[in-house]
Amino acid sequence: MSLHGRDLISIRDLSREEIESVLAAAKKMIPFAEGKKVSHSLENKIVAMAFFEPSTRTRLSFESAVQRLGGSCITIADASVTSMRKGESLHDTIRMLSSYSDAIVIRHPNEGSARLAARASDRPVLNAGDGAGQHPTQTLLDLATMQEAFGTLSGLTVVLLGDLKFGRTVHSLAHALAMFGAEIVLTGPPSLALPLQSRRHLEHMGAKVREQSDLHAAVRDADVLYVTRIQKERFGDESEYRRVAGSYRIDASVLADAKSRLAVMHPLPRAGEIAPEVDSTTHAVYFRQAALAVPVRMALLDLILGARKGD
Ligand code: CP
Repeated sequence: MSLHGRDLISIRDLSREEIESVLAAAKKMIPFAEGKKVSHSLENKIVAMAFFEPSTRTRLSFESAVQRLGGSCITIADASVTSMRKGESLHDTIRMLSSYSDAIVIRHPNEGSARLAARASDRPVLNAGDGAGQHPTQTLLDLATMQEAFGTLSGLTVVLLGDLKFGRTVHSLAHALAMFGAEIVLTGPPSLALPLQSRRHLEHMGAKVREQSDLHAAVRDADVLYVTRIQKERFGDESEYRRVAGSYRIDASVLADAKSRLAVMHPLPRAGEIAPEVDSTTHAVYFRQAALAVPVRMALLDLILGARKGD
């Protein structure tokens, strides 16, 4: 099925075949993302960036992707300078944006906000993170990184470490990993475990999923170690955050018994979960992961919005 004109709110909106088609297109986009080839696929298209929460990678890689495809952006990078300060609703804000642009990329602290935006907009809406909900475009670039590192997404053992309760990247990624038959190992502070509903969903999909409280044991068996930051901004109570802050850290000693091909990933930003000494090891792929954001988002925008024959 074509992605043209579609929203992307949850990774569940995509079939395995559609994910594979985005990944194949992303691979071809790499020389365009690096400026070695030129595309005009989004010529005359405007993409609105509606970011109501801080972002470095997601917003800037989307903006880079649009511009590499010959399109242009209008951007809200700070809700405090919009008329939402005067009481305008998210619904009305998005409805306006949909008449100023050809697609909307939204990040918002509230779970469900991207779905609300999609209902308010008659243009495609892409979810760039809705609270503790979903971050589907991050998942696409995570999968692209694994595919580049291993040549395949089949048969991988992937350890998800950290804040599995509030971490929207893992909520999206776990579903995709289940689709591709990965073995999923969950580890981290018990109070930040994957919500039961998400765990049940993975099991319902037939996923191989298990918990491993011993981080060293988890790392020893892993092909991918996907580290996440504790999402401090989602805690209602600061003292609860302090109880788990700093409870895990990946450094050379944790990686001592890892497989030589272990890929350490992180959606970034990191806040102490990966020691800088890991950066210079062959395990560190998190900066490559961040770089692949551009070709992956280019591929997605091209498929959703790009010029088609006869347009
Ligand atoms: N990975 C990610 O979403 O990063 P930003 O918060 O910087 O966009």
